[in-house]
Amino acid sequence: MEKDPQRFQEIIEEIRTAEGVLWAFPLFSLLVSSQYKRFIELIRERNAVGAFQSRYAAVLSTSINFYDKTAHGYIRAISEDLGMKYLGFYSANMNDLMKAGERGRLELFAEQLVDITNRAAARMYNPLNHRPVSLPLQPAKRPVSIAGKKIVVLTDVQPHQRHLQAMINRFTDSMDGEIAVYNLYDLDVKGSCLGCLRCGFEYRCAYTGKDGFTDFYNSKVKTTDVIVIAGAVVDRQLSWKWRQFFDGSFFNCHTLSLVGKQIAFLVSGPLSQLPELRQVYEDWMEIQQCNLVGFVSDEADCAGALEESLDTLAARLIRLADSCYVRPQTFLGKAGMKIFRDDIWGGLRIVFRADHKSYRRLGLYDFPQRRVGRRILVRLGWFITGLSGIRKRFPGLIMAQTVLPFQKVLRQA
Ligand SMILES: Cc1cc2nc3c(=O)[nH]c(=O)nc-3n(C[C@H](O)[C@H](O)[C@H](O)COP(=O)(O)O)c2cc1C
Repeated sequence: MEKDPQRFQEIIEEIRTAEGVLWAFPLFSLLVSSQYKRFIELIRERNAVGAFQSRYAAVLSTSINFYDKTAHGYIRAISEDLGMKYLGFYSANMNDLMKAGERGRLELFAEQLVDITNRAAARMYNPLNHRPVSLPLQPAKRPVSIAGKKIVVLTDVQPHQRHLQAMINRFTDSMDGEIAVYNLYDLDVKGSCLGCLRCGFEYRCAYTGKDGFTDFYNSKVKTTDVIVIAGAVVDRQLSWKWRQFFDGSFFNCHTLSLVGKQIAFLVSGPLSQLPELRQVYEDWMEIQQCNLVGFVSDEADCAGALEESLDTLAARLIRLADSCYVRPQTFLGKAGMKIFRDDIWGGLRIVFRADHKSYRRLGLYDFPQRRVGRRILVRLGWFITGLSGIRKRFPGLIMAQTVLPFQKVLRQA
């Protein structure tokens, strides 16, 4: 569609004569695929917003329900920005169509879309208002030594993105040592992820040998201590080029490829108004068991404040890389990992054999049923607390008994 403007225009004309649009897509990398994102970007680039205005919008995604919520939020926000009337979403697990009950549920959803009592929801995402600091930024006065650490800046910066370029310059300037800066547009990438799943057996992408992406990722990204991701907001997320990078990194399948790395984001755009942009990357970095040190955007009060944030970020990245700190996972990382664990063990391993081997090796199949000692203890506890004498005294005992095991650790501290 991008290379064939006439085809793109035909599609836009169809939308213009339609009452609604069903945004239907398979979930890719916590959002939509790079190709889908590119289509959304083209709507504004080719002045086609009018075709969407006042049309109804609904979302239908297929996935393994791993962060489907972030993708739905993104499409809802995009629809609202296009002036569409949002009706709702349907999140199908990729196997749901095989189940009669789920097919019935999907039919009910379809009925709701054409039900005249179903009114469009009130707008949920406010329009964005980006006010970047005034340039220029000054060079750093006291650069911090990188102390032998490997630091990589990945960016999709374009010549017109002056703020992003200024942030990258100041950031690299605030570090004393060699920092590799790679522009995603300069990488040898033949195309976006096809979702062909050929990588599942031994992490070999359909493009491996045909372009340089997997080599780049293996040799430059996986081997570094610190990764800085520098991008500008295009609509409400980083650009399609970043999507292509993350979709492309799926050649690692569900195997963790960034464990222990320090990560930071330099963002040009209204980041403070885009909690879901942050969430996509916070989720992803937690799953990857790396340390997301922070986001810095060009929304600072003044150039001096931005310069200070960039200097502080640089110093913290080095300090934390030195101490190998990775902050504990929250619900985001823990819950996501359980989906991977269960789905891979429960069936996906037929396709994702490499994941299965890696999960076994790394002990990621940590099913509670397998902890035999603990299971015996739980059974015993279950039996004892069920005894009528204990049951009566249980509420009085519970607090003291809960902290008892910790007291030993605290005494030793
Ligand atoms: C590159 C790539 C990234 C994916 N990322 C996600 C994801 O973040 N969350 C999720 O639930 N499923 C993810 N999936 C699984 C797809 O959503 C799933 O394969 C798709 O919905 C199946 O639809 P299809 O049969 O039409 O391909 C990913 C698949 C690929 C190939």
